Amino acid sequence: MRVEFNNAPDLNQLLELYRAVGWLNSRDNISFLEDMLSHTNEFICIYMEDTLVAFGRMLTDYRMSAFLDDIVVHPGFRDMGLGSMMINKLISKAPGVKKVKLTTFNAETFYRKLGFSKVSSVPLELAKN
Ligand SMILES: CC(C)(COP(=O)(O)OP(=O)(O)OC[C@H]1O[C@@H](n2cnc3c(N)ncnc32)[C@H](O)[C@@H]1OP(=O)(O)O)[C@@H](O)C(=O)NCCC(=O)NCCS
Repeated sequence: MRVEFNNAPDLNQLLELYRAVGWLNSRDNISFLEDMLSHTNEFICIYMEDTLVAFGRMLTDYRMSAFLDDIVVHPGFRDMGLGSMMINKLISKAPGVKKVKLTTFNAETFYRKLGFSKVSSVPLELAKN
């Protein structure tokens, strides 16, 4: 296993990983990912041999807040601790940050095991696509 930080992976492999969990639509392509990575504060890639099997990223100002996003482990490599390892390693890149935030639809239990809890008064989350 090899762990790399902020070193762009083979973007075809990253595209494949995103598509494995249905996150990108057909318009999103390699240059979209390249742009995205170039503006991301911290990202982590995990390889088995030379295959990208897990990826995660964090947007942060390193002081006030950090946002975890796009945490993904290839279906064939889950339940081996890779997801947890990525979260802990990403957070360790912003040791002084006051709050680490994320949103999730179907991995609440996973994040609770890592110490996250639901905020007591949930603000209305708004998005513009
Ligand atoms: C969520 C995800 C990143 C977890 O990665 P992983 O490498 O399998 O996680 P770990 O092996 O570190 O699992 C840690 C624990 O969380 C549990 N867990 C893992 N995924 C879970 C999920 N989706 N829901 C609930 N619990 C989950 C594991 O069973 C394990 O429990 P244990 O410690 O009691 O054995 C992975 O399942 C994934 O890529 N899912 C699809 C993409 C996704 O939903 N990402 C999160 C978006 S916010």
